[in-house]
Amino acid sequence: MLRITIDGPAGAGKSTVARELAQLLGYTYLDTGAMYRALALSALREGIEPDDEPSLAALLARLDLRFERGRIRLGDEDVVDEIRAPAVDRIVSVVAAHPRVREALVARQRALAQDGGVVVDGRDAGTVVLPQAECKFFLTASLDARADRRHRELLSQGLRVSIDAVRQEMSERDAMDEMRAVGALRVPEGALVVDTTGLSVAEVVHRLAEACRGRGA
Ligand code: DC
Repeated sequence: MLRITIDGPAGAGKSTVARELAQLLGYTYLDTGAMYRALALSALREGIEPDDEPSLAALLARLDLRFERGRIRLGDEDVVDEIRAPAVDRIVSVVAAHPRVREALVARQRALAQDGGVVVDGRDAGTVVLPQAECKFFLTASLDARADRRHRELLSQGLRVSIDAVRQEMSERDAMDEMRAVGALRVPEGALVVDTTGLSVAEVVHRLAEACRGRGA
């Protein structure tokens, strides 16, 4: 049972690909972005400012954050949809930049992945969370392709925003994710880089599955 990591910028198709790859291999999917988002959602609800690291760390320490059948929950509440709200998008990179937040969530992620048989997606899955993972991938796509995917996702949720606003917000989030001091987005050593621009989900999953099978998955 391998450990598989998939990193890359927002909208590169990581979560869809990771979920399908996990299903294909009979592995568990661990969405680390959902954990940062759930913390950001909880901070919004409690009126904690995204730049208030001590309060966020304290909030996280008492947060009952778990996955049940692949769905993220805060205690008894399923927050799968709410963590994708634009209000969460706007603050999550700031929340995720704090070293104390990252340290605590990385520890939880390692514990969840310790038995292997996992597909972990995020920004630092192959560099920080599981640097010893047997199979590492880095998915990219052009900013236009990524903004287009995110825009469609928002429209399907009934949220009408312009593609320009989505592109702008996305490039700001990229910059924050790439420049932060801890857990910055970068290509992990030994990762296979796949540009998903113009590729279907099935094509990307196929390519990744082949690489994993070559390593014994
Ligand atoms: O993949 P996503 O869009 O759900 O991630 C939400 C935010 O969380 C993103 O702006 C960066 C941050 N994140 C992170 O810092 N580290 C991770 N391992 C996953 C996500």
